[in-house]
Amino acid sequence: LANDGYHLWLQYSYVENASLRQEYLTALEKLSTSGNSETIKIASKELNRGLSSMLGPEFSSTSTNNNGNTLIFGAKANLSEDVILQLGNAFNEINEEGYIIKSYSLKGKNHIIITGNSDIGVLYGVYNFLKLLQTNKSIEKLNIIDSPKIKVRILNHWDNLDRTVERGYAGFSIWDWHRLPDYLDPRYTDYARANASVGINGTVLNNVNANALILTPQYLEKVEALANVFRPYGIKVYLTARFSAPIEIGGLKTADPLDADVINWWKEKTKEIYNRIPDFGGFVVKANSEGQPGPQDYDRNHVDGANLLATAVAPFNGIIMWRAFVYSEHDTTDRAKQAYPEFVPYDGQFKDNVIIQVKNGAIDFQPREPFHPMFGAMPKTPIMMEFQITQEYLGFSTHTIFLPTMYEETLQADTYRKGKGSIVAKDLDGTLHNKRLTGMAGVSNIGNDINWTGNPMLQANWYGYGRLAWDPYLSAESIADEWLRLTFSNNKKFIEPVKEMLLNSREAAVNYMTPLGLHHIMDTGHHYGPGPWVSNLSRPEWNPIYYHKADSLGIGFDRTSTGSNATEQYAPEVANVFNDLNSISEKNLLWFHHVPWDYKLKNGKTLWDAMALKYQEGVDQVASMITTWNQMESYVDAERYNNIKMLLNIQYKEAKWWRDACLLYFQQYSNMPLPEGVEKPT
Ligand code: GCU
Repeated sequence: LANDGYHLWLQYSYVENASLRQEYLTALEKLSTSGNSETIKIASKELNRGLSSMLGPEFSSTSTNNNGNTLIFGAKANLSEDVILQLGNAFNEINEEGYIIKSYSLKGKNHIIITGNSDIGVLYGVYNFLKLLQTNKSIEKLNIIDSPKIKVRILNHWDNLDRTVERGYAGFSIWDWHRLPDYLDPRYTDYARANASVGINGTVLNNVNANALILTPQYLEKVEALANVFRPYGIKVYLTARFSAPIEIGGLKTADPLDADVINWWKEKTKEIYNRIPDFGGFVVKANSEGQPGPQDYDRNHVDGANLLATAVAPFNGIIMWRAFVYSEHDTTDRAKQAYPEFVPYDGQFKDNVIIQVKNGAIDFQPREPFHPMFGAMPKTPIMMEFQITQEYLGFSTHTIFLPTMYEETLQADTYRKGKGSIVAKDLDGTLHNKRLTGMAGVSNIGNDINWTGNPMLQANWYGYGRLAWDPYLSAESIADEWLRLTFSNNKKFIEPVKEMLLNSREAAVNYMTPLGLHHIMDTGHHYGPGPWVSNLSRPEWNPIYYHKADSLGIGFDRTSTGSNATEQYAPEVANVFNDLNSISEKNLLWFHHVPWDYKLKNGKTLWDAMALKYQEGVDQVASMITTWNQMESYVDAERYNNIKMLLNIQYKEAKWWRDACLLYFQQYSNMPLPEGVEKPT
């Protein structure tokens, strides 16, 4: 195995273009380090590794040429006065994690400085500097000033202690609990390095469906070992807290958040953790959802639960990420409406180190969901985004689907909570309501497969998530462009067609799975492949028929005032658009409306014909992804080329499966023939 897949977007391929290579070599005659922390040593190692690989033997990392053009890197505190003078006001423009990359001339020599207010800022600067070379940019006149716009940029691993991964499709968990703490798999370092290179600064090691055992000394010792590996990369460790842990591992009779013994138990437990891990990040909690224990078991609410833990971690600067993915058997008229009333009326009551973690949409990580109505709706409560990177409802790691397109759609969605332009990204970065604590979580797609994500193309989703957590205003297009260059090739003949392929892939998936606002019609339990017919599960909202509501008259979930009235949870400007058949985007049509089979869409086609054509379009789009990829053999190593090729062929087969299954099933209700252009199911 060539292992190119293992190296992710840090390939550091040799710069073939001789004049560009010469430009780089001339600019980098000498490297000069300021500072000697572990983080700075990592930065130095990375520069040497990247530059020797990209520039070849002509690059010397040990040049003693004191008069050469120099790359200087180090934090402000370790720079000399005359270097700091070159930077003007730039330090005021960056935060603790930001960086500056600037060219300047002194005594006839051209220097480049990479700096920041902290060593971590310098490390981020180094990765971004290397990225310039990897993407073949000129480094002659640099003046880059950049800071992360979101504070907590975190991966959520849904990893269990037995190394299975809930909704994980890339092998087993990379955390080898059995051999920790003494055996430190080098992969932990590579994991930290990859995350730091995109600016991810936190990781939740275990599943939201939590096992209290992680909080016992036996496991905390292992967690501590991982935290020690990650620390110099700027990555904090977090854990999920099982709400009933005081009973399960603490020997108490209750987990009531207002009980004095329970309060004390969490205080002591927290102290114990911080004794081991002084920079421990805090807890994530899934409470009173899908059978998980929580404060409601004691007639308390989310505020009581979250504040209990927030009080325990506050003395250590820890935070509590309390999830809003709450869904229970109590309200089955419309699952999409459950979270809002459990949280929004409590705005202002959470302690200020609590952040509410909200999934991008109100159901569950569907190929397309309207943005969650809680975004923008809690001006006094920090709210963080939870995106799913692993593809639970999107063909697992088999289907090549570039998710930044989907993330961008949600981040750019306008909540109208403070008038036009109140986009979701602004609630997340704190600018909409002036919030101090900000965050974004991504449910990881990482496993112990050699290529990390089970499909080399899906590394792009890990990367893209990281980039958007750093800057939620980035475009999916720019992310695709840079990821392809870093990961495969700078050749235009590769970049242009493959970028196009990635950027269309999410819409293709929507088309062959859930066009026109359909959702949650995957087969139940595992969520792979179609299952719109499933109707026999004990809870109504576990059955796909609950979501599409197809009958002889029509199809779709009426969430307007004539139906569940979920639209009422949005700002009036948004609700009006969703309620109105004339103004709603057809992409969300069946999410909010139940319409007749012969309802006319804007293009004049009946709903049935349009739906059938969308399914066909999805299939055709995958066919064209294959055509594109088949022309890329000369730009990619054989291993990754073949991996992706085989996976695309499966995706094509399954796109047809989706089309045929859904059309045959829905046709029983529409009773209409397939329109011209749609292949007959075989
Ligand atoms: C989905 C998923 C579960 C997961 C849950 C959650 O429902 O299917 O496996 O536990 O989301 O986010 O808590």
